[in-house]
Amino acid sequence: MSSELATVLDLGSTKIACLAACYGKSGALDIRAAATAECKGVRRGVVADLDETSAAITVAIQRAEQQLGEDIGSLVVGIAGSHLEGVNAQGFVPIYPRSRTITREDVLQVINHSRQVVLPPDREQIEAIPREFRIDGQRGIQRPIGMSGGRLEVVTYLVTGQTTHLQNVEKAVSMAGRQVEQMVLQPLASGLGVLTAEELDLGVVVADVGGGTTDVAVFSGGSIAFSASLPIGGQLVTSDLSKLLKTSPDEAERLKTEAGCALARLVGEKESVTVTQLGQAEARPLQRRVLCEIIESRMREIAKMVWQQIERSGLNGMLPGGIVLTGGGSRLSGSADLFGDVLKNMRVRVGEPDVDGKAHGGYSFATAVGLARYALDSFEDELVPASGVTDWKQKIRTLWSVIRT
Ligand SMILES: Nc1ncnc2c1ncn2[C@@H]1O[C@H](COP(=O)(O)OP(=O)(O)OP(=O)(O)O)[C@@H](O)[C@H]1O
Ligand SMILES: [Mg+2]
Repeated sequence: MSSELATVLDLGSTKIACLAACYGKSGALDIRAAATAECKGVRRGVVADLDETSAAITVAIQRAEQQLGEDIGSLVVGIAGSHLEGVNAQGFVPIYPRSRTITREDVLQVINHSRQVVLPPDREQIEAIPREFRIDGQRGIQRPIGMSGGRLEVVTYLVTGQTTHLQNVEKAVSMAGRQVEQMVLQPLASGLGVLTAEELDLGVVVADVGGGTTDVAVFSGGSIAFSASLPIGGQLVTSDLSKLLKTSPDEAERLKTEAGCALARLVGEKESVTVTQLGQAEARPLQRRVLCEIIESRMREIAKMVWQQIERSGLNGMLPGGIVLTGGGSRLSGSADLFGDVLKNMRVRVGEPDVDGKAHGGYSFATAVGLARYALDSFEDELVPASGVTDWKQKIRTLWSVIRT
C-alpha cells in the first residue's frame, strides 16, 4: 500500500471534482482535499466546451490546492461517454527456461501481448486491466510474479476511446496548466469508490446515476468484466419536469430534489406541492403524485437501460452482490425501490464512498474517491517500459486486482 498522495479529477456533466487523498495509517483512505466547481462544458461525459471546462478545472483544482496547502501539477482523470469501449483481450508468453520464476518483465510482456489488437485509426487504448492470470492453464491467479511455470497467460480488460474526445480532455487539462497522469474509466472508478471487497468478490453491478450520464460497471471474480456509459441521467429528469410543468430549470431542480420520488405509488394521493410556472407571479398547488409520475417515467427508462447492459454483459444471474446505486441521481428518494421494481431478483442498495477526512459531498464524489483508490493502488505495482517514455499512453499503468486486501 502506498503512502503517496493521489490527485484526481472527475469530469462530471454538472461539476468538476478535484480530490487529493492518501492512505492513512489505519489503511483507510484519508481525503486531504475535496473541491468542486460547477461546469456546463461537459455534456454526456464528453468535453463540449473547452474554455468553460478548463476554467472550471482551474477553479476546482485551486480550491483543492487551498485545502491541501500545496500545488497540484498532474492528475489522474476520470472520463466517460458512449465513445468508450471495453473488451476482454488475451495475451500469452512462454517462460524460458521452463519452470523458472516468473518476473515483472514476463508480466509486462504478457500484458503488452494482450494489447496487440488492431484498432480503427480514430481510436486509442487508455487502460489494460488484468482480470486474471493463468499459469500452465491454471486459472484465477492474481499475482503471478515469483511463481513458476512454462506458459503465462492473461485476460485483460482493454479500454479504448475515440482519439478526438481523449485529446479534448487532455487539452482542457493542459489549458488549466496541469497534466494528465492517466485516464481512467469513470464506471470503473465509481465501482472502486463505493463497492465493498465482499461485493466485488461475489460479483456486483454499480450504476452511477449522474447528471448527464449513467455509468454502469459489472464486476465479476474480483475484477471489472463489463462497462458502459449511457448518455442519460438526472439532467433529463429535470428537463422533463421543466418542459411538462412549464417551469424554469431551477424550479424544476428544486421540485425534484425537495419533493421528488422515483416510484410514484409510494407518494400519497392527497399530498401536494407548490409550483411557480414561467410567467406566473404566484405559485400554484400541484398533486405531488403527478410530479413523481413524470420523474418515474424517466427513472424507469434509466433503470431499464441499466438492465439491458447487465443482460449484455452476459453475467446476469451471476451477481449475488446485486446492484449498488450511486451518483447524484441516486439521492432521489425512492430510487432504490424503483430499481428494485425493474431489476427483479436483484439486491439493490444506495452507496456512497466510505472514507475518512474532509467532508466530501458523498454520492457525487463516488467517482473521485474511486479514482484516488485506483491511483494509489496502481502506483505500487505500476509497470513502466524500461526506456524513457514520457507519454502516459505508452505506459501500462495497471491495477492488479480491484479487491483491496
Ligand atoms: N437530492 C437529490 N435528489 C435528486 N437528484 C439529485 C439530488 N441531488 C443531486 N441530484 C441530481 O444529481 C445529478 C448530478 O449528479 P452527479 O454530481 O453525480 O453528476 P456528475 O458527476 O456531474 O455528472 P456525470 O457523472 O453524469 O457526468 C443532477 O442531475 C442532480 O439533479
Ligand atoms: Mg459523475
